[in-house]
Amino acid sequence: MRKKIVAGNWKMNLNFDEGQKLTSEIVNMLKDENVKDVSVVLNPPFPHLYPVKKLIGDTPNLYLGSQNCSDKASGAYTGETSAGMLASFGAKFVILGHSERREYFKESNELLTAKTKQALENGLTPIFCCGEPLEIREAGTHEAYVTQQLTESLFGFSPEEMSKIVIAYEPIWAIGTGKTASSEQAQEMHAAIRKHLGSKFGQELANNISILYGGSCNPSNAQEIFSKPDVDGGLIGGASLKSRDFVEIVKSF
Ligand code: G3H
Repeated sequence: MRKKIVAGNWKMNLNFDEGQKLTSEIVNMLKDENVKDVSVVLNPPFPHLYPVKKLIGDTPNLYLGSQNCSDKASGAYTGETSAGMLASFGAKFVILGHSERREYFKESNELLTAKTKQALENGLTPIFCCGEPLEIREAGTHEAYVTQQLTESLFGFSPEEMSKIVIAYEPIWAIGTGKTASSEQAQEMHAAIRKHLGSKFGQELANNISILYGGSCNPSNAQEIFSKPDVDGGLIGGASLKSRDFVEIVKSF
């Protein structure tokens, strides 16, 4: 049985007090809700990580994740944060290959392999993002585009390593635009991604990989999207900054 996961990506939002308030609200709401079969992940910016972890405490099924990590283990790399540092205070997940990192920080598929390797070596679960821009979707080549991203970054890993990776499919044209993919479009791509992973790692392994949808997911559309057989949860941007909306999404399975 693959895991259901809802991960909130705060991106570069919220000051210290706002982050503490949001986390406390989510912790309190989750304690009141019966969401025990869903893993919930908070991915705040770096300065929030340790204080957010403190507030999460031993809240069941609530985990800390980072939005990035270095491709290096340690050393003279000013401004970088290693996967080992993140793991040392209890982070469990790391988002890698988000389209904003690919576009604005020129992260290549090759660099993302190195980051994924660092994450795995330090016991972090990578939430590995893939997704196509609008012009690729309009040209109808989105499946080839996304499967190539996965091939180039992940197909060098062993089946054991691959089994520890979570995939997030995020069509770039749906991120922060209010224009979500239809549940059929999400299902079609998730099934294609699973089939592609199966072609390399075996269908049984692929069937156990969680594939999350990201892109304008909100409390009104989450239930419909999560109802699809190959959608195992969501990577939530804007709606993860509002405790009520985020917890509603968590409850949408
Ligand atoms: O990481 C999250 C995604 O980029 C989705 O962002 O929910 O604001 O569209 P969004």
